Amino acid sequence: MNKKLLLAAAGMFTVAGLFAQKTTAKKAAPKGKEIYTQYCLSCHQPDGDGVPNLNPPLINTSYVLGDKTKLITWVLKGTTEKVEIDGQTYSNNMPPQNFLTDEQLASVLTYIRSNFGNKASAISAADVKAVRATVK
Ligand code: HEC
Repeated sequence: MNKKLLLAAAGMFTVAGLFAQKTTAKKAAPKGKEIYTQYCLSCHQPDGDGVPNLNPPLINTSYVLGDKTKLITWVLKGTTEKVEIDGQTYSNNMPPQNFLTDEQLASVLTYIRSNFGNKASAISAADVKAVRATVK
């Protein structure tokens, strides 16, 4: 085989390798959408519009757009109570999401507050940490 061609092929592999490394490094950072897909989507649905009478939507609700502390507390604790949200009751339970790290919760909450038509400020890992310290 032509030596030049071989060198060119080797060069291409190196570039491909660098790309692969870059993608992995990026993936290691917690991403809101991925966390949502893994832990929230089954109940709250891909577009955050929920399931009638079972799981509430995450679109423009007072919880999602409102006070950060209330939202963080809610998601850390979950609930087994029937809760009325904007005039509808939902009979499913929400399991506590406290197994997620501060960074993961910050990412997923920031994701829901800035998607599905929502526009609310970001939530930081420090916000989650502070609330977690007060939640039993
Ligand atoms: C097993 C189903 C289930 C999963 C998984 C789940 N939830 Fe929920 N969620 C509910 C239900 C049901 C309620 C309503 C309260 C109730 O009836 O217990 C709720 C309520 C909420 C609320 C407050 C009400 C509203 O509509 O604004 C927020 C915010 C929320 N969930 C966010 C999340 C996030 C973020 C995740 C993932 C980290 C998640 N939920 C995972 C079922 C679920």
